[in-house]
Amino acid sequence: MPTPLDEEPIALSIAELHAARDQIQRFLLEYRFGMQEVETKLSILREEFLTMHDYNPIEHVTSRVKSPDSLVEKVARKGIDPDFDSIRRHITDIAGVRVTCSFTADAYRLFDLLTAQSDITLRTVKDYIADPKPNGYKSLHAIVEVPVFLSTGPVPIPVEVQFRTIAMDFWASLEHKIHYKYAGAVPSELVDSLKDAADTAAELDDRMERLHRELHGPKPTGPALQV
Ligand code: GTP
Ligand code: MG
Repeated sequence: MPTPLDEEPIALSIAELHAARDQIQRFLLEYRFGMQEVETKLSILREEFLTMHDYNPIEHVTSRVKSPDSLVEKVARKGIDPDFDSIRRHITDIAGVRVTCSFTADAYRLFDLLTAQSDITLRTVKDYIADPKPNGYKSLHAIVEVPVFLSTGPVPIPVEVQFRTIAMDFWASLEHKIHYKYAGAVPSELVDSLKDAADTAAELDDRMERLHRELHGPKPTGPALQV
């Protein structure tokens, strides 16, 4: 069996290397623009809520475009044809935005407000809040398509948007570190403890949301804001 080291070296001229790099950069740039469109939409909603209702439904927003390394790794892992068209079709999390809210109701409200916008197309939804993963992972995932207006015309760009609470986010970042540390082979006691911690986090979310409602009532109501 030949190892990668036995393979014939690929001869690329410097000009070809530059061209390949430029193509990848250009490909990823479109995803950066798509991500920025979604970020702007979220910051408008956040500011509008703050101004009109003195209420902030978003704790924080983080975003990233997949690195070329992690994109290549995913293409290889999923056995996807390594051409741009096929990557475009099959990999929908090249641009990712994570919206962290105080309360579960806000996560759903922001999902509703974002996906109701006329230039947004909802491609898929995975509701891991209603149906948590067996390990306890909770979040609401949406793949949305947003048009990006380039000089050559509009291009629809998929963006993965994850909505979650602070407690879900806290849990997911710890689980991610543990998963990474054990390279996926997490000891079963730790798996059980994590599941337990996820249940505790969900309980905290419920209690905090109940308290919040007692204090403020369910606000703001309705799908749109009154100006
Ligand atoms: P990927 O191919 O890994 O992107 O997964 P998928 O296409 O099956 O999508 P899914 O919606 O299940 O997960 C997408 C993203 O959600 C991941 O890249 C993570 O950011 C997050 N995620 C999903 N499951 C878990 C989990 O069990 N733990 C943590 N920490 N994050 C998760
Ligand atoms: Mg992913």
